Amino acid sequence: MTKHTIAVLGSNGMLGTDILNVLGKRNHNIHCFDLPTFDITNYDQLMAAVLGADIIINCAAYTNVDGAESNLQTANAINAIAVGELGKIVKKLNKYLVHISTDFVYDGKKGGTYTELDDVNPLNVYGESKLSGEILLADSGCDYCILRLEWTYGHGGLSFINKILQRIKNQDKLFIVNDQYGSPTATTEVASLVCKIVEKRVLGLYLFAAEGYASRYEIAQFIVDKLNIQTTLTPCASTHFQTPAQRPLNSKFNCGKIDSLFPGCRSDWNIALENFLKELK
Ligand SMILES: NC(=O)c1ccc[n+]([C@@H]2O[C@H](COP(=O)([O-])OP(=O)(O)OC[C@H]3O[C@@H](n4cnc5c(N)ncnc54)[C@H](OP(=O)(O)O)[C@@H]3O)[C@@H](O)[C@H]2O)c1
Repeated sequence: MTKHTIAVLGSNGMLGTDILNVLGKRNHNIHCFDLPTFDITNYDQLMAAVLGADIIINCAAYTNVDGAESNLQTANAINAIAVGELGKIVKKLNKYLVHISTDFVYDGKKGGTYTELDDVNPLNVYGESKLSGEILLADSGCDYCILRLEWTYGHGGLSFINKILQRIKNQDKLFIVNDQYGSPTATTEVASLVCKIVEKRVLGLYLFAAEGYASRYEIAQFIVDKLNIQTTLTPCASTHFQTPAQRPLNSKFNCGKIDSLFPGCRSDWNIALENFLKELK
């Protein structure tokens, strides 16, 4: 196996942390970059990070979906402009970049599952900023792989799963939306895939999510059942909650493109989630 020097941007985040764990076991040299010592919007710091590595994995992002609605400039600076600059530097220095994106580039109005070829139409500022980042990156002409993820969860992150876990401990009744469908996806599984992508130097756009789909209500009920917690869940429509950012109702991915490159790279969402819940005990 070729040993690489890899810069992980956003290395302290939910996904970045698991990527470090997986890459560490593969014996690559890893350089970690995150706030407050590294700011992706600082060109000199970005240049230095890229210069010192042959591969860059960008997990750094402004991920506060509701916050982005009132912090448009910050979201754009981090998720769009900095990603474009990163692409230009990667091109200039002839390196390779894996960039993480999101299901929020889609409007969720499609009847079936989404593929890489479907039209994009973000419903919120966060999704728009992430889409702009993808476009600027592609325009840079560098060697890149963009991996669109959805509904990721891991230890320590602020995911839907972690929020549910917090709420069911403190409340005996909860309303959960049952009109948003997707696949909860473990960051450990994303990290394993990113490692394979890096080692194969995969180019292009890919969707990745766990196998199977569920509504947020079904996922919450799964957690309550598995943990044997006495919280009553009531299904409701997304309109029950007034949030600054609108969410897509359908985030179902067709992952055939990544499956054909790495057969068996995706677990069933309920098996992966059950394993995650067991680790909490
Ligand atoms: N979570 C999901 O459900 C989900 C779904 C689809 C796609 N994604 C994508 O997955 C990627 C990883 O996200 P995540 O879930 O790991 O979120 P996260 O935990 O918020 O990680 C993002 C990391 O980027 C850092 N960061 C923010 N601004 C920065 C800046 N200016 N310079 C350098 N680093 C900065 C954050 O630091 P601070 O914490 O200090 O701000 C954090 O460590 C992102 O591209 C996100 O868009 C996430």
